[in-house]
Amino acid sequence: MTIAPEHRSLLTVHTHARGKRSPVTCRLKCNDACLHPAPNESANEYFKDVVSSVLSRRAMLGTLAVAAGAVVIGAQGVDNAPSATAAPLPEGRFPGHGGGRGLAFGAIDPQPVDVDALVVPEGYTWDPIIRWGDPILPGARTFDPNNQSPEQAAKQFGYNCDYLDILPFDVGDERRGTRGLLVSNLEYTNPAIMFPPTAKYWETDAAGNVTGTKNAYARAIERAAHGMAVVEVRRKAPGKPWSYQRISPFNRRIHMDTEFVIDGPAAGTDLLKTSADPTGTRVLGTMNNCAGGTTPWGTVLSGEENFNGYFKAAGANPAADARYGIGSSTSYGWEADDPRFGGGAGFENESNRFGWIVELDPHDPSAPPVKHTALGRFKHEGANVTLSRKGHAVAYMGDDQAFDYVYKFVSKDRVAKGSSRWARAHNKTLLSEGDLYVAKFTGDSPAAEIDGSGALPSDGAFDGSGEWLPLVVDGRSKVAGMSVEEVLVYTRMAADKVGATKMDRPEDVEISPVTGRIYVACTNNSGRTPGNANEGATEMNPRDRKVQNGATINGNRDGHVVEIIPSGDQTSTRFTWNLLLVAGDPAVEGTYFAGYPKDRVSPISCPDNLAFDAEGNLWISTDGQPSSSGIAKCDGLFKVPVVGRERGHVQQFLSVPAGAETCGPIIDSRDGMVYVNVQHPGEDGTFAAPQSFFPDYVAEGVRPEAGDFRGPRPTVVQVYRGKGNGKGGSGR
Ligand code: FEO
Ligand code: CA
Ligand code: CA
Repeated sequence: MTIAPEHRSLLTVHTHARGKRSPVTCRLKCNDACLHPAPNESANEYFKDVVSSVLSRRAMLGTLAVAAGAVVIGAQGVDNAPSATAAPLPEGRFPGHGGGRGLAFGAIDPQPVDVDALVVPEGYTWDPIIRWGDPILPGARTFDPNNQSPEQAAKQFGYNCDYLDILPFDVGDERRGTRGLLVSNLEYTNPAIMFPPTAKYWETDAAGNVTGTKNAYARAIERAAHGMAVVEVRRKAPGKPWSYQRISPFNRRIHMDTEFVIDGPAAGTDLLKTSADPTGTRVLGTMNNCAGGTTPWGTVLSGEENFNGYFKAAGANPAADARYGIGSSTSYGWEADDPRFGGGAGFENESNRFGWIVELDPHDPSAPPVKHTALGRFKHEGANVTLSRKGHAVAYMGDDQAFDYVYKFVSKDRVAKGSSRWARAHNKTLLSEGDLYVAKFTGDSPAAEIDGSGALPSDGAFDGSGEWLPLVVDGRSKVAGMSVEEVLVYTRMAADKVGATKMDRPEDVEISPVTGRIYVACTNNSGRTPGNANEGATEMNPRDRKVQNGATINGNRDGHVVEIIPSGDQTSTRFTWNLLLVAGDPAVEGTYFAGYPKDRVSPISCPDNLAFDAEGNLWISTDGQPSSSGIAKCDGLFKVPVVGRERGHVQQFLSVPAGAETCGPIIDSRDGMVYVNVQHPGEDGTFAAPQSFFPDYVAEGVRPEAGDFRGPRPTVVQVYRGKGNGKGGSGR
C-alpha cells in the first residue's frame, strides 16, 4: 500500500529553520517551541544590565581560596553517596583523573547525517537490550507492528526512550552485578512511523482512503506507549551484555492510565483540583518524560517536560497559559477522547497536574509513583540529586526552554543511611519538603567585551559569580504576592519575579561525583540574536550568531556547558561559574574547549544529557547536530575530562543512526560498558517509507523475523568490548 500524500498532514509540520532538529520532532516533542515567541517575557536582568554588580576577578579568587581551605574533597557523611562537597579545583590537582583514566577508546569520526548506523570505537560492539514494542508484561505478545493495540502497547516497552539507568538489583549494592532493574522514560510518540497507513489507525475519507488524521484507536495506543518502564535485566558477568527478562515481578509500565500520588506543599491546593479529583492529590498519567536522575537512595526521578503540547488552554489563567506555552490547539488531539485534555468545565486545572518531577521506586512494584510539588512546576528536563555534607538531598534542575532558568532544591530532612525498610521509606519523603531556589548568574567582564561572536573577553574566560535566589524557604514563600502553592504551581512566574537569569535552554544539570562541581547543558537558543536588547549575548550565554562557510547565522546554534562551583557546601546559596565549553565546530570562530587545543577535539553541537564516569570525566550526549546550519553530523556521545591537563579534550565515543538523538547515557567505566537510549531514529520517515531501519536492519523483500520490524525502533543500546552477538558492530 502506498502512503497517501496527506498522510503526514496530521503533524501539520512546518519547514521552519529556526531550530536545529527535525520539524516532526519539534511538533511532537516540544510543540514547536521555537516557532512561538519565547514565553518568558519578564524583564529579568541580563548580564548587560548587571555588570554594575560585578565582582573583580581578584576578589572572586580570594573567595575561592577561602572555600578551598574550608572543605575536603571526597564522599563523606553517607555511604556510597556522591561527593558532598565542592571546591575550586586548580589545574592538575587531580593528575590521573583526566583524559587518560577511565574507558579507553579512540575517538570516532563524526558521521554524515544519512548514516543509518550506530557507530562505536574500534574494539567495541553494541547490542540492543530492549526495543519499542518488546513485550515485558504477562499477556504481551511478540511485537507485530501491523497489529498494534492499546492493550498490547500497555504491556510493551513504549516509544522514544529518553532517561535510562540500570539499577543494582539488590537495594544497597553499589555495583550493577549480574541482575539489574532497567528503568527508562518513554517520552513521546510519532504516529507517522509507528502506525501502518490503514483504517485501523487512521480516519478515512468518503472514498475510503486513509487520511492524515489518526483515529481514536491510534490515540489510545499513543497514551499507552508514553510514560516509563521498569524491566529486569540479567547478564553472565560484569562487562558482558545484558538480556531483558520478559517475565519478572519487577517489570512494570507507567502510562497515561497509571495513578500517581501528588505530594508536597501544593498537594490538595485548589489549583490542582478537578471534577475527577476534588482532592487535588491523585492524577492519572505522566507525559513527555524527558531526562531524569537516580537518587542516592535508589529511586528514579523523571522530568515531565513539554506537557503543554497535550492540553488546550482552559482560559482560567491566561498569563499562566502563556508563560507555559499552553495554547488553543494540541499536538496530540487527545482532547477528542478525554475532556481533561480539552481544558473544559471541571478540568481547568488539569494541565497544572503535569510539569512536575516524578519519583518512581523500581524496587517496589506496588508503590505508586509520586509527583513532587516541592520541586516546582516547569518544563522539567530532569533532576539530579547529590547530598550535602550534613546529608540533605540537593537536586539540580533545568527548565528546557529558550530563556528559562536553572533551579535547585534542598531537602528539609536528611538522608537516612543504609537500606533498611525504614531508611528507604524515610528517604522517599526527602523530596516532599524543602527549599526551592532559582539561579542568578553575574558576569565579571564588561558587557562591551561580550560581543556575541563567542570571542573570549579580555580576562580570558566567560565566568563570574552567582547566587541561588530563594523561592520557598522554611515553608514560606519568598516571592512577593505569591503563596507557597502559587510559587510551586506557577514556578516560572515566581522565578520571573525574583530576577532569575535567562539561559539558553538549560537541560541536564549533573553533579561531578569526584569534585562536587555542577554542570549545566545549555542546548541552544535560536532566539538569542544580535541587536535585540532583551535577547542578546551575555557572558553566561555569550553567542548570538556565528559565521560559518562565509554566512552569518543568528542565534546560539551550538549551545554551551556551564560549570558551577558552589562556594562551600552544596547547600550554599553562592557560587562561581565559568563556561567549560562553547560548543560547535572547532574550526569555526567562537568555540571554546576550556583552552584545550582545538585541532585535537571532536566537533560537538547541542549538548543535552550529561553523565559522569567513576573517574570524574563528563560525558555529553547531543540533540540536534544533524543540521545544515550546524555541524551537520549525526548526534553522538562525547567524553570530556573536566580537570587536569586533559580538561576540555572532547572526544566522540559513538554516533547514533540517521534522525536519532542520543539520550540517557550511562558510563560504567569499571565494567567497560556504555549504555545509551537511541531516541527517534528515522523521525522524518513514514511507516511505508522508513528513513531508518535501526536496530533490526531487515533487508528489503525479506520477511522480518518474529518481533523484528523493517523500520526504525527507539532502542536501549549497550556498548561493550568485543564482537557482539549479531545485531551490533560499527556500520550495521
Ligand atoms: Fe526532551 Fe529537553 O529534551
Ligand atoms: Ca570573564
Ligand atoms: Ca533532553
